[in-house]
Amino acid sequence: MAALAMHKRSRIATLLFAWAALSLGLVASASASPDSSKVVGPTECAECHKDETAVWKGTHHFTTFRSMPRSDKAREIADKMGIRRLKAESLCLDCHFTSQIVNDKEKPIAGISCESCHSASKDWVKVHSEFSGKKKETESAAEAAARWALAEEKGMIRPKLIYLLAKNCYSCHVVPKEKLVNTGGHPAGSKFDLVSWSQGEVRHNSWYSKGVNKPASTERKRMFYVIGLVVELETALRGIATATESANYAKAMARRADTARKKVAALAKLLPDVKELASIVKFSKSAGLKLNNEGPLTKAAEGVAVEALALSMNYDGSTFGALDKYIPGPDKYKGKPAK
Ligand code: HEC
Ligand code: HEC
Ligand code: HEC
Ligand code: HEC
Repeated sequence: MAALAMHKRSRIATLLFAWAALSLGLVASASASPDSSKVVGPTECAECHKDETAVWKGTHHFTTFRSMPRSDKAREIADKMGIRRLKAESLCLDCHFTSQIVNDKEKPIAGISCESCHSASKDWVKVHSEFSGKKKETESAAEAAARWALAEEKGMIRPKLIYLLAKNCYSCHVVPKEKLVNTGGHPAGSKFDLVSWSQGEVRHNSWYSKGVNKPASTERKRMFYVIGLVVELETALRGIATATESANYAKAMARRADTARKKVAALAKLLPDVKELASIVKFSKSAGLKLNNEGPLTKAAEGVAVEALALSMNYDGSTFGALDKYIPGPDKYKGKPAK
């Protein structure tokens, strides 16, 4: 009972914290890349997380560090954008690389790495791993809960914080940058869905299962599916809100938002008891998907964000069985999961 009460309290603390971050605009304005002044780099994580690091080294997130700058397509995009050095203070750093501050300058040190997804870790890396200064066996449940709460407060994005995890993926994979798309000819995002893109080459669920790379559970995949769609909607609404010209970017964002809101409306019908989904549908219809509509579109996106966060905290997927036939199966996974 005590453990349950503690668990609930820490969930509520997290929710309040995330709420505060949302209302301060911290989450909404979070850029795709982690705060480079607080990045420790993947080599430090690798000291303890050997298996997860080995998996990461087999992904496009790892290889983009070398391959992207060498590609003809990259040169072409950069030329159109007037960028001479891809790896020096350019927009490309935001999504293709992890950087650290060296001599007051951003220096890329890796591709998309641990901290791109779990957040820059200078303030939490010790906290999360030190068992409250004890041996693992002697740390009490209350101490462990306090340790995790502190790590979250210091910004750690843990696997259970699905909304924040998803926000990160979509902040890069929707490519909400008008000039990059219209002038640079960069793709306006990926055909991304959170289940198939997280369960293929990216999957590294090997820490708690001692090296066995387990797929996400059925319940968790349901949560990934719903939260992914809702975050896609939120991100695309914010994307159109900043559009200034009727060209590829605005069209692509409007298409994404429209598709996502139709899919979310279908989910809301399948799960009529989930009031957060009903609100999201309402918000998604509250603003026209058009240029020069920043105020209403931002408001709609913020409404979606608050409900999405609540959805991610209030459910665990166990009652979402109605979604199972829509959730992509292993044949759709993006890349092969590592053993
Ligand atoms: C000194 C060893 C050590 C280092 C260095 C380390 N970790 Fe960990 N990590 C751990 C331990 C131990 C746990 C599990 C703690 C537990 O079981 O309560 C863990 C758990 C995690 C988890 C799972 C959290 C959860 O909610 O269950 C993530 C994610 C993680 N680490 C990411 C990272 C990242 C990213 C880095 C580098 C920035 C890193 N770790 C560096 C030891 C370490
Ligand atoms: C907002 C995030 C973001 C930014 C900023 C960004 N990229 Fe990308 N880039 C992506 C994503 C996501 C993909 C993968 C798209 C996909 O799924 O195919 C990608 C793919 C690419 C590709 C391969 C796609 C192709 O058409 O072959 C190249 C080359 C590339 N980016 C170059 C650049 C360059 C150069 C810059 C800087 C001028 C840049 N990117 C900035 C997110 C970004
Ligand atoms: C592309 C984003 C991304 C990157 C890069 C990434 N992670 Fe993760 N990590 C996740 C997600 C998402 C999960 C939860 C996956 C799930 O539940 O299927 C996770 C889960 C974990 C876990 C918990 C695993 C378990 O057994 O439950 C650890 C530990 C971890 N990551 C550490 C790392 C380390 C260390 C690195 C760098 C070598 C890294 N991650 C890179 C997104 C990422
Ligand atoms: C910091 C930006 C960033 C974040 C965060 C991010 N990605 Fe990516 N991702 C990229 C870019 C850029 C590429 C393309 C790399 C390339 O091929 O050069 C990519 C490629 C991928 C690929 C390989 C696609 C292929 O072509 O086969 C998968 C799968 C993927 N990402 C999944 C995820 C998932 C799941 C998350 C969140 C848990 C995530 N990504 C978070 C930027 C990001």
